[in-house]
Amino acid sequence: MKIFLDTADTDVIKEFKEMGLVDGITTNPTLIARTGRKFGEVIRDICAIVDGPVNAEVTAATADGILDEAREIRKWGEQIVIKIPMNREGLRAVWRLSEEGIPTTVTLIFSVPQAILAAKAGARYLCPFVGRLDDIASEGTSLLYDITAVLGQYPEWDCEVMAASVRHPIHVVEAARAGVDVITIPPKVIDQMLSHPLTDRGIAQFLKDAALCYS
Ligand code: G3P
Repeated sequence: MKIFLDTADTDVIKEFKEMGLVDGITTNPTLIARTGRKFGEVIRDICAIVDGPVNAEVTAATADGILDEAREIRKWGEQIVIKIPMNREGLRAVWRLSEEGIPTTVTLIFSVPQAILAAKAGARYLCPFVGRLDDIASEGTSLLYDITAVLGQYPEWDCEVMAASVRHPIHVVEAARAGVDVITIPPKVIDQMLSHPLTDRGIAQFLKDAALCYS
């Protein structure tokens, strides 16, 4: 399973890259806005830091507009993946970009039928949002199991499932159990994954005992 960092904060990306935890990056307009910086500036900076795929989301409403945006954004870095919302115009753009060899992520997927259409249209990554389904009392992680099961039937669909809208460590565990290819994790959730009170207690005890015999 690959881990992408779900953030546009370049300082945080550098920090987690030093732990070998960054196979790629996902951004979206909300994450870019949080930086207080401009979209193009942030994406270019991220491409200078990260070797893996960098997801940059388009905002145009029509397929032609998305294609124009995508071709411009791709000039900023060869590793850029164009992130496109799941709708009719988005799928038209996904299909045409796949014909041009430009990788895409179809985002805001909330159902298996949506995932099937995105895979068929030629998306490189399918991005089901787990947390937002949980928010409406629907089991987000069940969708991951269903999508991976369907995709497993059609290896000719050259796409990967990227779990997103991850809100806590158990989402990561369940996504791994479901066999997703990628999970994009907010830095806060990685910090939650890292820590455990028994680990802290064990380190403190070892250091206390080491003081008696390690010097
Ligand atoms: O990558 C998508 C993610 O940033 C959305 O997360 O918590 O806003 O549903 P959230």
